[in-house]
Amino acid sequence: MTTPDFYETEQALSEYLLFHYGSPAQNLPWAFGPVSALDYPARCVSECLEVVRLPARARALDLGCAVGRSAFELARHCAEVIGIDYSHRFIEVARHLQQHGSMPYAYVEEGHLTTPAMAVVPTEIDRHRITFEQGDAQDLRPDLGLFDVVLLANLVDRLREPRRCLGRLSDWVRLGGQLIVTTPCTWLEDYTARSLWLGGFEQDGRPVRTLETLRTVFEPHFTLARTLDLPFLIREHARKFQWSVALATVWIRR
Ligand SMILES: C[S@@+](CC[C@H](N)C(=O)[O-])C[C@H]1O[C@@H](n2cnc3c(N)ncnc32)[C@H](O)[C@@H]1O
Repeated sequence: MTTPDFYETEQALSEYLLFHYGSPAQNLPWAFGPVSALDYPARCVSECLEVVRLPARARALDLGCAVGRSAFELARHCAEVIGIDYSHRFIEVARHLQQHGSMPYAYVEEGHLTTPAMAVVPTEIDRHRITFEQGDAQDLRPDLGLFDVVLLANLVDRLREPRRCLGRLSDWVRLGGQLIVTTPCTWLEDYTARSLWLGGFEQDGRPVRTLETLRTVFEPHFTLARTLDLPFLIREHARKFQWSVALATVWIRR
């Protein structure tokens, strides 16, 4: 199922709690599987964030935070983190995790057979640094302030109007601040009208790729510091997985 409402469903909640908080063995019960694709929400921070660039008491914004793992990881390095997601369900659960540190759930083995599990925020993370709120990344409340880090992990190809969101990001990133955008470039008309895709089509007889459009949108305000290929694995059930490779780009605000 791939529709915008997917992120309010029980299936999405279970898949994303496992994706964000599940152990390697829970996410990938096969010794021959792609272990380098595990722990993606944490790796979006550990592999992309340049910690040395952060000022004291840094502020971070995680747009499309889902059930919150990357926002918690940002709090290892930043004094204040705001996580925003359009899904009421995800934000309700992220807030529960922020307040209580854990949340019981179940993940699918096969059909209606599930295994009970507990999502636990790593205990060394100071959860008081994080707040979660429901909101639209394309239309953020104007009083959010400036950030030293803005992360969009696997969000852009799920937006109705990606350019509208990306074109405004320079307003939120402090000079010298970092903008981290990761995307598997899975453009689907269920989420984004074909005319608004950032890549994956031909124009004037030549292919347009997402990276090229990101450059066009960001280069007036940002310098591209790095690109990375980040594999990730989402388990649907014990015998079905989505293995993807996100394009990660790290931009520095000029
Ligand atoms: C593919 S998931 C990625 C979630 C998370 N960043 C991760 O890497 O696991 C896309 C997320 O974006 C959220 N989302 C979709 N449209 C949004 C919007 N307009 N504003 C904020 N979040 C949105 C969805 O609810 C979902 O949590």
